Amino acid sequence: MNEIVKREALSKDVFRMEVETPLIARKRKAGQFVILRVGEEGERFPLTIADANAEGGTITLIFQAVGKSTWALSRLKEGDEIHDLVGPLGMPTHVERFGTVVCIGGGIGVAPLHPIVKAMKEGGNRVISIIGSRTKDLLILEEEIRGLSDELLVSTDDGTYGFHGFVTQVLEQVIERGEKIALVVAIGPVPMMRAVCKVTKQHDLPTTVSLNPIMVDGTGMCGGCRVTVGGETRFTCVDGPEFDGHRVDFEELTKRLSVYKKQEAKAMEKYEHECALGDKMK
Ligand code: FAD
Ligand code: FES
Ligand code: MG
Repeated sequence: MNEIVKREALSKDVFRMEVETPLIARKRKAGQFVILRVGEEGERFPLTIADANAEGGTITLIFQAVGKSTWALSRLKEGDEIHDLVGPLGMPTHVERFGTVVCIGGGIGVAPLHPIVKAMKEGGNRVISIIGSRTKDLLILEEEIRGLSDELLVSTDDGTYGFHGFVTQVLEQVIERGEKIALVVAIGPVPMMRAVCKVTKQHDLPTTVSLNPIMVDGTGMCGGCRVTVGGETRFTCVDGPEFDGHRVDFEELTKRLSVYKKQEAKAMEKYEHECALGDKMK
């Protein structure tokens, strides 16, 4: 159960894993995620189902190692098992024949964008994808997204690859050239999603964002993932993760995401110390 059948590093700290979990592989839809624990004592944390092979019974997870749990996961090898994995969770992406859809991914956000690009294309849309990262080495899934999109545009903040600048500037260029855009989908760091919404609001373009608040149970019980959308409290794990970006309170989300920074840093420090002692804690 939950065996890692394939593991590869996409960059210094980004990993792709194929995990054997036939029921989830069959049932999952674009936009959904799993909540997992690396080991019995581990914390629960969410990762998007980046892809799935229903016949082979596997799902693909793509994640950036940013703290204790993601580093612990990255240390598992092919043949190891993830202690537990619950899903598919969350509402699937709403797909219909919109027309031209612009899909924007920033940093590790390109991983959760991948199944949405695929679903939008399969749903009969013309898909223009814009992906960006801080620098060339951090850009992921370029070929995969190119293969699924009608057009792919790339940017890096430092200009080492593609357009020198932000994905929002590339979006502005696409708008300026007169594209008739029906929907914009943006996934990435909160400041990036917020900036995309600022641009699309000016042009009155419907915009969906996929939110990433801290989650614990993933079933609407703990309230950890609450966000404010259009003045109302919503639970991202059951009502989302996708919401109308123009109605999201990004200010509150930013604050809530950093509430446990001290504890997270401490946990990472302790984990590194234990790893150094050779006691691989999960
Ligand atoms: P920590 O040091 O504990 O935390 C680092 C930062 O990650 C925190 O400051 C906080 O902003 C965030 N975080 C911490 N704990 C949680 C938690 N329980 N839930 C959500 N965020 C948390 N990351 C990927 O790399 N790939 C994905 O496909 C992906 N999909 C996600 C889908 C959803 C619906 C959500 C909500 C988040 C997703 N994330 C994804 C983010 C991922 O869950 C966090 O990076 C991870 O939990 C960090 O845990 P950590 O212990 O390694 O780091
Ligand atoms: Fe607990 Fe959403 S994660 S309510
Ligand atoms: Mg953590």
